Amino acid sequence: MPDGSAGCDSKRIAFEAVSSAFGSLGRVCLALNAAFEIAHVSPRMEALLGPGVAARYRGRPVEELLGPDLLGPSSAMRAALEAGERREGWRAWLRTEPAGSRLVSVSAAPLDHVSDACDPDARYLLVLRAAEEDPGAGGAAPTSFSGVIARSQAMVGVMHLLENLQHSDVSVLITGESGVGKGVVAHALHASSSRRARPFVAVNCAALPDTLLESELFGHVRGAFTGAVRDRVGRFELAHGGTIFLDEIGDIPLHLQAKLLRVIQERTFERVGDSRTIKSDVRIVAATHRDLHRGVAEGRFREDLYYRLRVFPIEIPPLRERPEDIEPLARHLLARVGARSGRALRFSPCALRVLLAHPWPGNVRELENAIEYAATVALGQTLQPEDLPPDLAGPRDLAHAGATAAALPASDQGEPAPRAPASTTAPATPPSTSRSPRRPPPRAELLDALTNYRWHMTKTACHFGVSRTTLWRWLRAEGISC
Ligand SMILES: Nc1ncnc2c1ncn2[C@@H]1O[C@H](COP(=O)(O)OP(=O)(O)OP(=O)(O)O)[C@@H](O)[C@H]1O
Ligand SMILES: [Mg+2]
Repeated sequence: MPDGSAGCDSKRIAFEAVSSAFGSLGRVCLALNAAFEIAHVSPRMEALLGPGVAARYRGRPVEELLGPDLLGPSSAMRAALEAGERREGWRAWLRTEPAGSRLVSVSAAPLDHVSDACDPDARYLLVLRAAEEDPGAGGAAPTSFSGVIARSQAMVGVMHLLENLQHSDVSVLITGESGVGKGVVAHALHASSSRRARPFVAVNCAALPDTLLESELFGHVRGAFTGAVRDRVGRFELAHGGTIFLDEIGDIPLHLQAKLLRVIQERTFERVGDSRTIKSDVRIVAATHRDLHRGVAEGRFREDLYYRLRVFPIEIPPLRERPEDIEPLARHLLARVGARSGRALRFSPCALRVLLAHPWPGNVRELENAIEYAATVALGQTLQPEDLPPDLAGPRDLAHAGATAAALPASDQGEPAPRAPASTTAPATPPSTSRSPRRPPPRAELLDALTNYRWHMTKTACHFGVSRTTLWRWLRAEGISC
């Protein structure tokens, strides 16, 4: 009879042999089971994150260590691993007590059970190393920080600012166009701060009329105004010990700006209709898509409040200025949409190129809506260009997309990167940018493109921003045979 405990021991020893081999290369290994719980942790973890860490996380869901964005149930990396793919060089901030946070580079792959020496419960292997020891991965690899996903230098810079703010209580003003991710950055600021165990209370200052906004922020007592039939606690009191997020601060009326200034300066306020002063221990984070500096110049925004709020300004660039973020964001948002509906969704390479080509005037929110739309329309698991909203990029823009897509990690490209032809080989008739993806181009245009791509169906289909099935249908309708 085989001795079960001896078997277990030998599997543990097998993992230790693997992890010590990786350890001598300066890497930390983790093995995860099918439920993404940590089955084995290499002892080197302690060198990276401090004593006691390996024991603390053994048996725990991996997202407790690496965060839900990277490996939580609706993360892009988990979806890739479940689909049998590997991902390399992602970056994440690990929070360690009391040492603070540490940026690590994470590679992950499903385990091939080529022999039974390995624990059969171990399904996935993760290899971590300190990010500073892996400078090569930084350029192409996405980074995650408390819900914020990015690859661009500009956004990784924002993550570094958030990291610097972890032990500070200064007021922060987040600016940027609508939909760039101001809300998600505000939340990350709270989630990575020492106030994270206390409430995060968001107030949209543009959503309420002036009269209601005051009582929403500061509360009121019974009889303070018509309709105030009982006492009400305001958002500042609810946020006590935590963070208040004043979204669309540019829309706050002048008389409330004075009251807000007092909260910031004196840390006190009164409920509407009350004379008792309440002490406030709240970190203030504000956001706006408006130009507050202009608001000050035009007398719509108090200058003293402006400078009090922007002690630490964070500017989030529009998505069109950081196209490197489109692909990791798209995958992240698709994994999130898929997890909600219990579907394992992926992009066809052509669909991804259409996303990369679009200028995204509505920023990440527009990208999110497009993905939501495509996931609703798509019949199968793979999202095709035809599933995307018809107003997305036309084929002419795919020349740009081809260039951007060439920067994608090779493992993320399901088929050879189709590139639009160089100008010397481009079809004589440039395709229209306002086409519906389902409308066939003129026969001459089809033939031009086929010739330029040497009758390569995938490349030609990508050029038109459609799937190969649609291209075949167009060719059949035109009587063109290959
Ligand atoms: N860097 C990011 N990582 C992950 N998700 C993001 C990122 N940026 C934006 N998102 C997602 O995009 C959507 C829009 O972001 P958010 O609401 O934070 O934008 P906003 O700038 O506050 O927009 P608005 O000005 O319209 O309020 C959200 O669902 C958010 O989760
Ligand atoms: Mg917002």
